[in-house]
Amino acid sequence: MARYHGVDIQKVGSGNTGATNILRTLGAGPALVVAVFDVLKGGIAVWLARLVGIEGYLLGGVALAAVLGHNYSVFLRFTGGKGVATSFGTLLFLDPLLALLTFPVGVATMGLTRFVSAGSMIGALTAAVVAIALGRPMWEILTVVLLAALVFWTHRENIKRLQAGNERRLGDKAKISD
Ligand code: G3P
Repeated sequence: MARYHGVDIQKVGSGNTGATNILRTLGAGPALVVAVFDVLKGGIAVWLARLVGIEGYLLGGVALAAVLGHNYSVFLRFTGGKGVATSFGTLLFLDPLLALLTFPVGVATMGLTRFVSAGSMIGALTAAVVAIALGRPMWEILTVVLLAALVFWTHRENIKRLQAGNERRLGDKAKISD
């Protein structure tokens, strides 16, 4: 989407390839397209795996592989996104109830703080805690905990910015020449 608009998204704003950075750089329409495709990227991987009978730990591995492929893309010299939308997509097909319980918590945190990064991390943490609280099978708990840990790892620069008080807020614009 960024290339279509003639922008190197890794050189603008946060440098992230995800929908949040597209939003602050190119606006809501392109950001929505990126978000939908990133969710589908994770969702379709898990859906296809289930279709061919993959379940349990192997299914968790498929979910993790989809997110790792997004975060460390072979098309971007092993850089990429932060894996939030793609993790959510995998969760939608791994455990729809867990995804639907988690989604409002993440979105509410984003709305209240106006930090997408904070909403992403709180959402990821919520998914892990709720999976444990609901007594989900061990393979699923392990998968969700690893996905959440990855979200925290990919947000390490955001955490530093949040601590320093200079994290970009929802609605902030990024200049293409940034
Ligand atoms: O999903 C990524 C989001 O949580 C943070 O994006 O561009 O502000 O680092 P960004």
